Amino acid sequence: MVDDRADETEGQHANTSRRTFLKATGAATATAGVGTGAVSAASEDREGKEGHTDIEAMLSELTLEQKVGQMTQVDVGTFDPDSTEIPDSFGVETLGEYFSELELGSIISGGASPPTFDAEETVMGINALQEYNLENSEHSIPFLWGVDALHGNTLLAGSTSFPQRINMGATRDIETIEDAARHTADSAAAMGAHWTFAPTTDLQRDPRWGRFYEGITEDPTYLGEVSKARVRGLESNDRLCSTVKHFGAYSIPENGNDRAHARTSMRDLRTSLLPPYRTALEAEPKTVMVNSGAVNGKPAHASEWLLTQMLRERYGFDGLVVSDYDDFYRMLSNHDYTDSFRRAVKEGLNAGVDMYMIGNGGEAPGPAEFIETTVSLVEDGEISMECLDESVRRVLELKAELGLFEEPTVDPSEIHSVLGGAQEESERLAEESMVLLKNEDALPLSGDENVLLTGPGYDPVLDIENRFLIRHGGWTLGWQGVQEGAPTEGGPRPRGETITEAVEGSLDGELTHVPTDFRAQPYNPETSDANGDFGFTDEQEEEVREAAGSADAVVVILGEGPHNEGFGDRDELALDPAQRELVAAIEEEAPDTPVVGVVLAGSPRGGAETFDSLDAVVFAGQPGSDGGRAVAGTLLGENNPSGKLAFNWPESVGKVPNNYDAYPPLDDQEPLYAFGHGLSYTDFEYSDLSVAPGSVSDPASTPTVTASVDVENTGDEAGEHIVEVYNTQSFGSVLQPNRRLLGYERVELGSGESATVELDLDLSALEVVPGDVPGILPKVVEAGEYELSVGEETTALTVEDAGSITDDRPAIGFDPDADGDDYSAVVEFLRGLGR
Ligand code: BGC
Repeated sequence: MVDDRADETEGQHANTSRRTFLKATGAATATAGVGTGAVSAASEDREGKEGHTDIEAMLSELTLEQKVGQMTQVDVGTFDPDSTEIPDSFGVETLGEYFSELELGSIISGGASPPTFDAEETVMGINALQEYNLENSEHSIPFLWGVDALHGNTLLAGSTSFPQRINMGATRDIETIEDAARHTADSAAAMGAHWTFAPTTDLQRDPRWGRFYEGITEDPTYLGEVSKARVRGLESNDRLCSTVKHFGAYSIPENGNDRAHARTSMRDLRTSLLPPYRTALEAEPKTVMVNSGAVNGKPAHASEWLLTQMLRERYGFDGLVVSDYDDFYRMLSNHDYTDSFRRAVKEGLNAGVDMYMIGNGGEAPGPAEFIETTVSLVEDGEISMECLDESVRRVLELKAELGLFEEPTVDPSEIHSVLGGAQEESERLAEESMVLLKNEDALPLSGDENVLLTGPGYDPVLDIENRFLIRHGGWTLGWQGVQEGAPTEGGPRPRGETITEAVEGSLDGELTHVPTDFRAQPYNPETSDANGDFGFTDEQEEEVREAAGSADAVVVILGEGPHNEGFGDRDELALDPAQRELVAAIEEEAPDTPVVGVVLAGSPRGGAETFDSLDAVVFAGQPGSDGGRAVAGTLLGENNPSGKLAFNWPESVGKVPNNYDAYPPLDDQEPLYAFGHGLSYTDFEYSDLSVAPGSVSDPASTPTVTASVDVENTGDEAGEHIVEVYNTQSFGSVLQPNRRLLGYERVELGSGESATVELDLDLSALEVVPGDVPGILPKVVEAGEYELSVGEETTALTVEDAGSITDDRPAIGFDPDADGDDYSAVVEFLRGLGR
């Protein structure tokens, strides 16, 4: 990870953890999912120290400094305990002293980049460092090793890079997404990691935001369900814990820039922004990470309302809350909220953070300063001992739950049986995520054509093929993408076949490949909207024109480079001028030849200015390891595309925000392609839509109804199809969203085949916050008639009486007694002012 990364950068939460300490008696159960043969010398020594599995005893043995050490996580770039490559301000001389001097609780090898991309070296490195820690720290408490395994365990060369989250959303295939998460967990655990900072559960609302590709969808209910499944998958290996992040409302910076302030409303928070996290929490993730931004004028890290009242008290979360990267310091450096690190730490820990994630230096304070500051806050009574102990307890309990006291290391041979696996799931997700945006009889290709394949994919400086960067995106063998977007020839790559290889393998006709220039922009905050540097040289133009003139079909790859966080923020959605010139040259040279665009991007990149010149457009997103096959299969008809957009594709950046569930009026806001759009090589027709029961007297006791619709494949090809039921019209005491997705189901039908599809409709998607502007009343499905639609088919569902499904209490802080008039937080505030 690049050093620059660190440069950018009341109440008490002492409620007792409800998580019962697993095997507090010290019973050494076989909780370790991997590495049963790997008990190290250090852990053998520990057999005599029975007390180490007794959390309370351990807690009582730790000094105040050591307790705070356990609450500290530091980014490291090496496994070598003798390494002196430690930022000057970090208060230690060597890496080993993090353990021998500070007794740190956790390590982050952030940015999807461990010190090496070699699997075996990584396992051995983590094991050796753990052994060093156990031997050299006073209490021999194993550390937690945290990573960003976000779309596969993409920290190792040869790993499976599953399609990015933007692709996952298009599949509506929660089962396979969960299977993929299960594989990620096995691979990360076999590597020696204990913690992955996934799933990202932030609503995908603003395509200007550089992390749009990490969102699953802009629909809160669907996002919640996918995130819940990912928690289940990621925690299916006993040795790994997941992180629901970034709590809450991280994804809606008002200016589209990462970590900028989110200006929203109580109604929006309670209707759309927070519910996905709440749903994900139902799967009981062991940890939650905090939003790096600020919400309605308050940094999330200092918000007791978010981190304690909402997260713990309302949503019942009893695990560990970790800060985001340097985020106490970010209250100074980014939010200008305070000029005192001490105040930031005090507010953060009192608000509900249990562990502070520290980056790799720059201006940001290191672990020694964090520990010293916290100790002094406790000594001065500004943070209670009770609050601090509760956080340390959570850290120790997590280590115990993961079996680290019994098995601190893993068996190095395990990783080889997992690495690069789950190809079937990866292929399936990649294929299911292909969204056919447009097709004027250009696709599928017959396979007999002579095809020109062109578009970005050649690094003119390194003289290497580099389209894989665009295919995998960020958090893949590097924070900004493979080797931080600056790959070396022969450097590490995830497993996978290129698009060119896959097309070549399936085509009977001749393939001419003319890759055009693309230099990914290595991280540089000064050029934060770069998303890649594209070129179209005279030589390339000549080759393209020559090949296009004689080709039967042209496939042009379009899109944007890998990117991440603020560096990926974009000011426009139109494609780079060099790509538009390329399309124009093809159109001019071969006006009658079918031209197909394949968009590889982490956002809705491209608009009518380019797509009007193309006969077909496939949105392939960032499809990962098996994206080559999925793209080739889609072009050649081996994969009949079935993906559906899980966000609105705006006409241009000037139309943002452009959300499918926006409130009316929506004049002049027609998206280029709407949520749910996705064509097929065959046709599907619907009939006989009905819903049972057709009338619900109380949604609280009947939260689900069943829709039934007949679907017929009336075309000539077999195909999969996602049937979706939307609420398209309703009236209530407040504005109703334009559309809401209530249920979806994938079906597979041969040509001429039909089926009756039954779909469970989750009525909680219809909940609104009724009442006037403040938006503080309990959430309800209001009484009334709800129009349900599948394509052009409609039916109606009647709700006789209003009822709450997910949250029958008013907003926290307004009416704790739910008696309709006790605004006690306000009363308390006024009392504080002496009024
Ligand atoms: C990101 C998190 C990530 C963390 C560790 C932060 O900058 O916001 O999503 O998990 O870094 O790499």
